[in-house]
Amino acid sequence: MADKRIYIFDTTLRDGEQTPGVSLGADDKLEIARALAKLKVDVIEAGFPVASPGDFAAVRKVATQIKGPVIAALARASRNDIHEAYEALKYAEQPLIHTFLATSDIHMEYKLKMTRAQVLSHISEAVRYARTLVDEVEFSAEDASRSNWDFLCMAYSQAIAAGATVINVPDTVGYMVPEEFAKLIVYLRENITDVDSVRMSVHCHDDLGMAVANSLAGIGAGALQIETAMNGLGERAGNAALEEVVMALATRKDYFGCVTGLDTQQIYRTSRLVSTLSGILTPPNKAIVGDNAFAHESGIHQHGVLNNVETYEIMRPESIGIKKSRLVLGKHSGRHAFEERLQELGYQCSEERIHELFMKFKELADRKKTIFDEDLEALITEKTTEIYEKFRLLSHQVISGNEAMATATVRIETDHGIIEKACAGSGPLDALFNAIAASMNQDIVLKDFQLKAVTSGEDALGEALVRVERDGRIYSGRGISTDIIESSAKAYLQAVNKLCAASGTVAANVGVN
Ligand code: KIV
Ligand code: ZN
Repeated sequence: MADKRIYIFDTTLRDGEQTPGVSLGADDKLEIARALAKLKVDVIEAGFPVASPGDFAAVRKVATQIKGPVIAALARASRNDIHEAYEALKYAEQPLIHTFLATSDIHMEYKLKMTRAQVLSHISEAVRYARTLVDEVEFSAEDASRSNWDFLCMAYSQAIAAGATVINVPDTVGYMVPEEFAKLIVYLRENITDVDSVRMSVHCHDDLGMAVANSLAGIGAGALQIETAMNGLGERAGNAALEEVVMALATRKDYFGCVTGLDTQQIYRTSRLVSTLSGILTPPNKAIVGDNAFAHESGIHQHGVLNNVETYEIMRPESIGIKKSRLVLGKHSGRHAFEERLQELGYQCSEERIHELFMKFKELADRKKTIFDEDLEALITEKTTEIYEKFRLLSHQVISGNEAMATATVRIETDHGIIEKACAGSGPLDALFNAIAASMNQDIVLKDFQLKAVTSGEDALGEALVRVERDGRIYSGRGISTDIIESSAKAYLQAVNKLCAASGTVAANVGVN
C-alpha cells in the first residue's frame, strides 16, 4: 500500500508566538517564514491579524513575500476578524483563513455565554463568509477534546456543510492521553457528515507532555494533518514540536506508514533560527535538536558507536542537517574559499551580503584562530538578525573584582551625538547593562540572560541572549563575540534598541555625563 501523505501545518508564528515572553517583529517572522518555506512545511500560520496592527503587518509581509506553502491567518468566528484575516492574506499565492469557536460546555457557558444552537449558527455563518473570500477555510472547534462528542460532530458537520475544507481537532488544554485521543478521532470520522470530503487535522498542546504522542495517535486514527511549532513553542507548555513529529514519522515509517513533504535536513537550521529570534534557548536534552541529542557519553556507548553507529543511534545527525564540526577556514582563507563554504552549507546570498559577511569573517579571523561551520552560521544569523540600531556601541570598559564594586563605562553613538555613561552594579554585567540603560534614559527590567559557547576551545565565540521587559512587552537581543562582555553588551543593546524602536524613543541625554 502507498504511504499516507501527512500535511504539516506549522504554527510557530502564531501559537508559537503566544509562548510567554516571546514577541516576534515582522522582520523576525519573515525570516522564520523563509526558513519554514525552505523546510517545505505545507502551511505556515503567520499570525492573528486582528490581534494588533503589528500582527496584521507581519501576516501581510509573509503573505506577500513567501512563495510555496499555503499561508494561513487566524480569525475568531466573527465577520470582522475574518475580514481582517482576508485583508492581511489577500496577496498570498494560496491563502487560508483559519476560523475557530469553542465547543466545550465550560467555554460556551463561561467564556462565550452562548447556547449550543448559537454556537452552531455562528460556525455556519463564519465559515460561509470566509469561503466567499478564499478557497481554503479551516475550522477549529476550540477545546474539542473536552467537548461533548455528539455536539462536536454536529459542529464539524455544520462547518463542512458551510464550505470548510479542513477541520481541526484541538486538544487546547493538553488534557488527552493518546488512546483516548485516537478513539475521539475514530468517533469523529465515523459520525461527521461528509467527513471524507475534507482534511482532518490535529492540534495538540503539551500540558501533560503528550502533545507529540497525541498527534501521532491522531494520525494512526485517520487524521491527515498535524499542527506543530518549531522547538515545541506555544501557549503555556507549548504545541507538538515539529522536529519530533516529523522525525518520528520518518524514523518509524515502518510503523506509521506515512510520509511528509519536508526536507528534514533543514530542521536543525530552522530550530536554531527560531531559538535565536524567540530568545528561547533549546535545552541540551531536547529530543532531535538539543545539543546532547546525538552525544554519546558513556564508554560503553562510545565503543558501540565506534564499531557501528546503529548500536545507539536510531537516526543520523546529518538527516536533520547537523554537520560534523570541521576546521574550515582561517585568517589566510580567501573570499573564494569563503563563498564556496557558504554554498556547501546551503546559503545562497547576494554579492552584497557575501561581501558584508566576508568582512565580518575577516574581523573574526583576527581574533579566532580556527573558524568552524558553527562560527560561520553564527555570523550569518547575526547578520540576519541585525536591526537598524539607533544606539550603537562605540566602546565599553568594565572593572570588577572580588573586593571592589563593579563599574562600567560605555560610549554610545546616536543620530544626535555621543553619550557617555558610567554606572556601578553588583557584578560586571549588571554594571554594563545599567550603563547602557542609563545612556538611553530607559527603565528596563532584565528578564533573562544566557550565555553559551558556539564551539569548543578557548577562543570560542560566546553567544549571549538577552530578554528585557518594559510595560509588559518582551524584547530579545543576541550578540556574538570572542569576548563575552562584548557579546553581552551587543545582545543587551540590540534588545533595548528594539524596545526604543517600538516606543519611538530618542536619546534625551546626548552629551557627556
Ligand atoms: O489550541 C487551540 O485551541 C488553538 C486554536 C485556535 C486552534 O490554538
Ligand atoms: Zn493552540
